[in-house]
Amino acid sequence: MKSKKVPSGEEVRQKKTVGFLSQVCVLLFFFGGEVYCQYETDQWAEDYVQEPDDAYQPEFQFHQNVDYRIPFHQNTLVCANECFCPPNFLSSMYCDNRKLKIIPSIPMHIQQLYLQFNEIEAVTESSFINATHLKEINLSHNKIKSQKIDYGVFTKFSNLLQLHLEHNNLEEFPFPLPKSLERLLLGHNEIFRLQTNAMDGLINLTMLDLCYNHLHDSMFKENILCKMEKLMQLNLCSNRLESMPSSLPSSLMYLSLENNSISSIPENYFKELPELRAVRMSHNKLQDIPYNIFNISNLRELNVGHNELKQLFYIPRNLEHLYIENNEIENINATVICPTVDPLQYYHLTYIRVDQNRLKEPINSYILFCFPHMHSIYYGEQRNTNGQTIHLKTQVFRRYQEDDSDEHDDQQNNFESQEQEGTEENFDLHYYEIQEWQENI
Ligand SMILES: *[C@@H]1O[C@H](CO)[C@@H](O)[C@H](O)[C@H]1NC(C)=O
Ligand SMILES: *[C@@H]1O[C@H](CO)[C@@H](O)[C@H](O)[C@H]1NC(C)=O
Ligand SMILES: *[C@@H]1O[C@H](CO)[C@@H](O)[C@H](O)[C@H]1NC(C)=O
Ligand SMILES: *[C@@H]1O[C@H](CO)[C@@H](O)[C@H](O)[C@H]1NC(C)=O
Ligand SMILES: *[C@@H]1O[C@H](CO)[C@@H](O)[C@H](O)[C@H]1NC(C)=O
Ligand SMILES: *[C@@H]1O[C@H](CO)[C@@H](O)[C@H](O)[C@H]1NC(C)=O
Repeated sequence: MKSKKVPSGEEVRQKKTVGFLSQVCVLLFFFGGEVYCQYETDQWAEDYVQEPDDAYQPEFQFHQNVDYRIPFHQNTLVCANECFCPPNFLSSMYCDNRKLKIIPSIPMHIQQLYLQFNEIEAVTESSFINATHLKEINLSHNKIKSQKIDYGVFTKFSNLLQLHLEHNNLEEFPFPLPKSLERLLLGHNEIFRLQTNAMDGLINLTMLDLCYNHLHDSMFKENILCKMEKLMQLNLCSNRLESMPSSLPSSLMYLSLENNSISSIPENYFKELPELRAVRMSHNKLQDIPYNIFNISNLRELNVGHNELKQLFYIPRNLEHLYIENNEIENINATVICPTVDPLQYYHLTYIRVDQNRLKEPINSYILFCFPHMHSIYYGEQRNTNGQTIHLKTQVFRRYQEDDSDEHDDQQNNFESQEQEGTEENFDLHYYEIQEWQENI
C-alpha cells in the first residue's frame, strides 16, 4: 500500500528549496521584469517549509544577476593592495574578512565591491573619488556609524543597484541614496530615525530590509513608504511596531512583520495591496482580527503563528500554506473558514500547521471537500485549559496521492490519519507531503 520511497532529509531539503524557488522565480519573472534569482542565497523558500522547531529565520532575499561587463581596457586596471580582484571577474574587488578599519581607495573600473566582515566605522568621500561605476557595495558586518557617513557619499553612484549595510551600528536611515537603487539591506542595525523624505526618489527600489532595528509606528506616519512605487518586498520584522505600517505601496508582494507588538489589523488594510503573495506576522499580539481581513486574491502564504488568536478567519481561494500554530484557537469550524464550496473554483489550500493551540479534536472532514488539494494538517501537540500538553488522536493528517489511490476508490477513504508515533517520523512525513506537492506543480 505504501510503496513510496521516503527520501532522506537532505534530498527533501534540496528538492523542496528548488521547488519553491522555481515558483518564486516564475513569480518574479512575471512581476519583477528584471529581477533574477540565485538559488543558494534565497531564504524565503527555506523559511516557508520550516520544521516545527526550526530556528527563527526572519530574512528572505532575492538576488539579482549583476552585469559583469568591463568598461575599460584591461591594461589600465589596478586593484587596491589590501584586496583581491579575480582575473576572471575584473570588475569585482574582494576586500572582505581582512580586519580593515578604513575603506581602501576604490579604482575607477570596479563595479562590485565586497567589504563585508571588517571593522570599518566610516564611509568617506575620499575612498570613492574615482569610483563612479559601482553597481553593488557590500559593507555588511562592519561597525559603521551614521554620523561617520559623509553626507551624500552614496548619491554619486548613479548606477548603484544593491547596497548591503546590514549588521552595522547605524542609528539613522542612510539618507540620501541614489535613485538607481533596487535593493537596500539595512537589517541588524540600531535605526530609530527615518527622515520623512528618506524614501523620496527611490522609485526603483524593489527590496527593502529593515528587520532587527528600533523602528516605531511614528516613523511610518508620513506616508513615506508609498513613494517606492516598485517595492515588492518589505521586511520590518523584529522592530517595535505596535500597529500596521501605513500606506504600503500597491506593488508589494512580500511583507514581513514578524516579532513586533502588533495587536490589530484595520479593516480594509489589505484592500489596496492586490499583489500580496505572502504575509508573515508571526510573534505579534494579534487577538481579534476582522473575519475577511486576509481575503487577498493572490495570497499564497500566510503566517500568523505565535499570536493570541482565538478564532480563525476566511481563507482566500489561492492560499496554499497557512501557519496558525501557538495561538489560542479552541475549535476550527470548517464552514466558517470556508463558507461556500464551488466545484468549479476550488480553493488551493494544501497545508495547515495548527500545533500548540487549544484544539480538542481534529477539524471536521468537511474541510476536505472545501480544500480538495489539502495534503496535510499538522496538529502536533495541543494545550488544554490548564496549559498542559495534550495529544489529539491525530498528529498529522495526510491525504494519499492520486496515483496510488487505486486501492482507495472511495474518495472519503482516500484520506488517512496518521496515528501519533515518534515525533521525528511525523516530521519526516510532513516534509514528504510538502515535497510531493511541489513536484506536482
Ligand atoms: C584616481 O585616479 C587618478 C588617475 O587615474 C589617480 O592618479 C589617483 O591616484 C586616483 N585616486 C584615488 C584616490 O584612487
Ligand atoms: C554580502 O555580505 C553578506 C554577509 O553579510 C553575504 O551574506 C552576502 O552574500 C554578500 N552579498 C554578496 C552579493 O556577495
Ligand atoms: C529605473 O529602472 C528603469 C528600468 O530598469 C531604468 O530605465 C531607469 O533608468 C531607472 N531609474 C533610475 C533613476 O536609475
Ligand atoms: C524579537 O525582536 C527583539 C527586538 O525587538 C529582538 O531582541 C529579539 O531577538 C527578536 N526575537 C527573535 C526570536 O528574533
Ligand atoms: C473575498 O473577496 C472576493 C473578491 O475579491 C469576494 O467576491 C468575496 O465575496 C470575498 N469573500 C469573503 C468571504 O469576504
Ligand atoms: C459552524 O458554523 C456554522 C455557521 O456559522 C454554524 O451554523 C454551525 O452550527 C457551526 N458548527 C459548529 C459545530 O459549531
